Amino acid sequence: MDAATTTLRKQLSTTALADVYRFFRYALPDFALNRLLRTMRRGQARKAMLYPVRLLMSKIRGRPRRVMVDLVSVCNLRCPMCSVPPDIAIGATQKKHLDLAEFKRIADELEGHVTDLSLVYSGEPLLHPSFKEIVEYAKTRFYLSTISNGTVIKGGRLEALVDGIDYLQFSFDGLSKESYEKYRVGANYDSVLANVNAVIEAKQRAGIGLPVITITFLVNSYNEDEVEDARRYWLGRRGVNYFFDKPINLNVHRRSDDKKEHDLVHWLPQKSKMTLYKRDEAAGTVEVEKKRAPCSIMQTPVIRGDGEILMCCHDLNNSVKIGNIEKDNLVALWGSEKYAAIRQRGANRQYPICKVCGK
Ligand SMILES: C[S@@+](CC[C@H](N)C(=O)[O-])C[C@H]1O[C@@H](n2cnc3c(N)ncnc32)[C@H](O)[C@@H]1O
Ligand code: SF4
Ligand code: SF4
Repeated sequence: MDAATTTLRKQLSTTALADVYRFFRYALPDFALNRLLRTMRRGQARKAMLYPVRLLMSKIRGRPRRVMVDLVSVCNLRCPMCSVPPDIAIGATQKKHLDLAEFKRIADELEGHVTDLSLVYSGEPLLHPSFKEIVEYAKTRFYLSTISNGTVIKGGRLEALVDGIDYLQFSFDGLSKESYEKYRVGANYDSVLANVNAVIEAKQRAGIGLPVITITFLVNSYNEDEVEDARRYWLGRRGVNYFFDKPINLNVHRRSDDKKEHDLVHWLPQKSKMTLYKRDEAAGTVEVEKKRAPCSIMQTPVIRGDGEILMCCHDLNNSVKIGNIEKDNLVALWGSEKYAAIRQRGANRQYPICKVCGK
């Protein structure tokens, strides 16, 4: 390809025309009807046919559409800004993974009431020793999603992802080995890339269009120049549906180590607009941008590994007490006045955690 064509392509990929192209090429195939047809082709006709009814019922009855279930609270990586692994996160459960039996009990309780389960919260979900069995148990009852660092795709996990997960996100924060490994501490670029490729290829071989694959790219000061090339690279791959660049959260309030804002601020991008923070160059400080629009993240409750029900994925430390799945019924709680008031306060960003969460 000559230089002029390359430049034209580069320019095109950042124009509105490119957005239209991307919409038809990637987003349209993910629309609801298409999604249901794919689920049927996968042999999950009951799930597909019940979905619209269940979705409508959960809206009428005012129930959550999706619940996050924390499968694993450990991780094999040490991304510097992630404060979820229990060794640095305040209040993180010390239970390493949710028992399979406990997961089944939760799934039984939620079936028919919620349509989607997110099998991720803290840690790396694919480290769960029974990941395959969990997916097997839940795949015909719920639309399943998960997020993975892509380091461990063995022992039946690849098959579980391709046969049972509907929405799969890989976190891939860098286009070059250098920037990727700088943030994803403990990961090997080549081996993760090979794993992600193996999943994309298996998806393409299966020929059903599932799972919907998203690549997320956490923008930091060491990879911000690579975002657009990474976007082009991933969206040029058949089998990859979406690419999202994401703003990094310093998460200082969630850390139990002695790292403070000034130790971490060098990770914040300098040029990219993809940031949650406002800088005061003169004072050398950063603070979370104040958000005014109502928050909707508390519409997805989280079941932590120790059974605690968290208001939202930002309240890892469980500062807002709701209940525990071992003694409480989530669906019944959701309908209570107390929980409705909590959601209302969360939507209005009235809790102390809301002032620092960045969402
Ligand atoms: C906590 S991770 C758990 C799943 C898996 N271990 C992974 O890294 O993909 C879930 C998502 O949170 C994102 N994440 C981690 N630390 C973050 C931070 N400080 N700010 C914003 N997102 C973050 C990761 O990039 C990932 O997409
Ligand atoms: S891989 Fe995921 S859970 Fe593990 S440290 Fe990185 S962001 Fe956190
Ligand atoms: S604003 Fe409040 S409710 Fe919303 S994500 Fe942040 S902590 Fe949760």
